[in-house]
Amino acid sequence: MKQKPGWVLPNLKEAQKRTKEETPRIDTYIIPENARSMGIGHTYFISTYGCQANERDSETLAGIMDTLGFEKVEDVEQADVILINTCAIRENAMEKVLGEIGNFKRLYRANPDLVIGVCGCMAQEEGFVERLLEKYPQVRLLFGTHNIQDLPSMLYSVMYEKQRVVRIYSREGEVYENLPVHRFGKHKAWVNIMYGCDKFCTYCIVPYTRGKQRSRYMDEILNEVKELKEQGYKEITLLGQNVNAYGKDIDDSYDFATLLEEVAKIGIPRIRFTTSHPWDFSDEMLDVIGKYDNIMPFIHLPLQSGDSDILKLMGRRYSQEEYIALYNKIIERIPHVAVSTDIIVGFPNESDEQFQHTLDVVNYCRFDNAFTFIYSPRPGTPAAKMEDSIDMETKKKRLALLNKTWNEHALERNKAYVGRTVTVLVDGFSKKNDLVYSGYTETNKLVNFTGNNIKTGDFVQVYIDGAKTFSLDGHAIQE
Ligand code: SAH
Ligand code: SF4
Ligand code: F3S
Repeated sequence: MKQKPGWVLPNLKEAQKRTKEETPRIDTYIIPENARSMGIGHTYFISTYGCQANERDSETLAGIMDTLGFEKVEDVEQADVILINTCAIRENAMEKVLGEIGNFKRLYRANPDLVIGVCGCMAQEEGFVERLLEKYPQVRLLFGTHNIQDLPSMLYSVMYEKQRVVRIYSREGEVYENLPVHRFGKHKAWVNIMYGCDKFCTYCIVPYTRGKQRSRYMDEILNEVKELKEQGYKEITLLGQNVNAYGKDIDDSYDFATLLEEVAKIGIPRIRFTTSHPWDFSDEMLDVIGKYDNIMPFIHLPLQSGDSDILKLMGRRYSQEEYIALYNKIIERIPHVAVSTDIIVGFPNESDEQFQHTLDVVNYCRFDNAFTFIYSPRPGTPAAKMEDSIDMETKKKRLALLNKTWNEHALERNKAYVGRTVTVLVDGFSKKNDLVYSGYTETNKLVNFTGNNIKTGDFVQVYIDGAKTFSLDGHAIQE
């Protein structure tokens, strides 16, 4: 790849390394003097792809931009700076981003001072960065997931020194506290409890794009939650690639069950968490979830495959039987719990019989919701080197059959709500219809309902009259 002085290009081999070194923790945030107030009179727009970790990163990017004096706009045409926070989890996520950058070419032609910056997980990928640098001259700023806090100085170089800045560290990473945040939600908030991932599932790019597992200290998390409660937030979601492994990188006195209990005691009305890897799911967690009413009875428990041999090749470290045993324990111990999952079809050489084992687990667990994907080889991961005898046609058929199967179960699960009254946290008007409100139940079911004088952030009792595959219909019970 062409290297220019001052550029730091990504390196997946470096990103893969894990040492025993302690995680650096940085809790002061200083903006370089020359960059302060550089944004006054300028606007920014952020586009976010990928998971909640990326959503939360975009809130930090926005927080930094606000601190510099920039004004956030919702219309990209009005923006002086466009930041695209990307996802690398599958090939198609990548194509979408390139399409979007291509569309911005028009804006760049009209305004050569427009700054287009690309960051996030795709920026950690060598091949993508190479393509961007060569084919997309309009992208003036490229930075990685470990470089967010440097945004002020990078942007200064781009805007005032007319440089093209590329700064992508491929390392284990730090824990930054006290970075500014501009939360996009008014009553729901994301709270990072850990960064990175050390599980190295053989298909997955995340351990390379996000660095090693780094848990935040418990008191930092609790302080953030207390602040959110004081600000009137009604729901928080604790975020990590593997929340169940929280604290294991610090010492033995730290674990997720303890953290969850301490968070619950703060008394925020709704607490969620994601993602729970079946591998580290402890009995203590189930006890805590069962004990506190403000911990929502909803578990996202990625299955990935229902076949024990495929699971082994994926590096997931549980078998079909172990997954089912855990599922049974969850539904026994948490009353009215809803369970959702992630599934990959078409892992290299997955046979019909092995795919059938995935369907068997889906038919056993009858998930409330599922996110299903065709396996996408990620450069640099072990699975990408495996030869694959299964053609795309077969993979697409499997995905269609899997979706048909889980959709039927989801509909049945939803029908069980008809005639019941549930508590809904209101998000706003339904996207489709202005007279209808929408929100989520404790079990994370989307509800569209009618009512009067209801506000975003209200808790409302809703009587359920109808069920669809992806949502429930109802009416508010009001005095
Ligand atoms: N940390 C979470 C997963 C985060 S990625 C966990 O371990 O469960 C979200 C989902 O994307 C994964 O659960 C998986 O189903 C899917 N995924 C990850 N890598 C993929 C790949 N290479 N191809 C297709 N789907 C993938
Ligand atoms: Fe990826 Fe596995 Fe880590 Fe989840 S646990 S982020 S699937 S490597
Ligand atoms: Fe995508 Fe990175 Fe999240 S690859 S799913 S944005 S951790």
